[in-house]
Amino acid sequence: MEKKYKLNVLEGKDIFDIIRNNRNLIDEYFWEYYENFTTKRLRTYVEDICDFFNPSGNVLSIGCGHGLNEILMSDMCQEVINIKGIDLVEFKIKSMNEIIDLLGLENVVGIHADGMKMDFSDEFFDTIIIIESLSHADNQHQMLKEAARVLKKKGAVFVLDFNNGANPRIWIRSWKQRHFEETIENIVNPYFIRNRLLKMGFKDIVIEPYRHGRSFGHLRRMMLSKNMELPSKLYLFVSKGFMLKGRKY
Ligand SMILES: C[S@@+](CC[C@H](N)C(=O)[O-])C[C@H]1O[C@@H](n2cnc3c(N)ncnc32)[C@H](O)[C@@H]1O
Repeated sequence: MEKKYKLNVLEGKDIFDIIRNNRNLIDEYFWEYYENFTTKRLRTYVEDICDFFNPSGNVLSIGCGHGLNEILMSDMCQEVINIKGIDLVEFKIKSMNEIIDLLGLENVVGIHADGMKMDFSDEFFDTIIIIESLSHADNQHQMLKEAARVLKKKGAVFVLDFNNGANPRIWIRSWKQRHFEETIENIVNPYFIRNRLLKMGFKDIVIEPYRHGRSFGHLRRMMLSKNMELPSKLYLFVSKGFMLKGRKY
């Protein structure tokens, strides 16, 4: 199947090789976090995300970490987007900006900021993306409220999280972590998020299960191209991840 999103600057290149050759610019934690990633895997992940919600305009990514998703997205959608990625952790943003400089990308930047209290003015962005960071926020409701504040009317919100609170196994894992382990990742229940967004005036909310991997992306695209209905509701209860999109009115 013809790819809808093509890389430009990064086409045919391995982003991890480029970064590895400039290792001194990047913090050590980066290599732990991206230990199991490859350029191919990252690319299909970002393609799946773009396929689901067609990013455009002035984009804010809340909790972007080292920003590789945003870097690939900015390269894939060069003509249509300009991305600002924010994160609470300063060294991640520093590495992100070093990688952006290495690649010479001009439509993406990292900013050290708190997604629960941002300096951006009201209705500043066309699109907000929150990838795997709502489950790491101290207060999910506050992060969504701030996201809604800085989003323009008719603007789109996108949330992806692998701590799907609609899946009972994830819910139990989080409960165990909270009581017996040190690491805590909060669950994100897509239906709670949908209800909160509805209360804040969002509409057209779509929730889909998500699994990171080529086969899932292909299956999804194949079913959609044949106008087959995705077994979303059932699959959401066993899927680790979900994607959600909505529009502010
Ligand atoms: C699991 S990482 C995900 C990073 C990246 N989005 C990705 O998918 O690789 C979660 C990130 O959310 C960030 N984060 C948590 N709370 C935040 C907040 N209030 N404002 C900005 N970033 C936050 C953390 O610092 C961390 O980098």
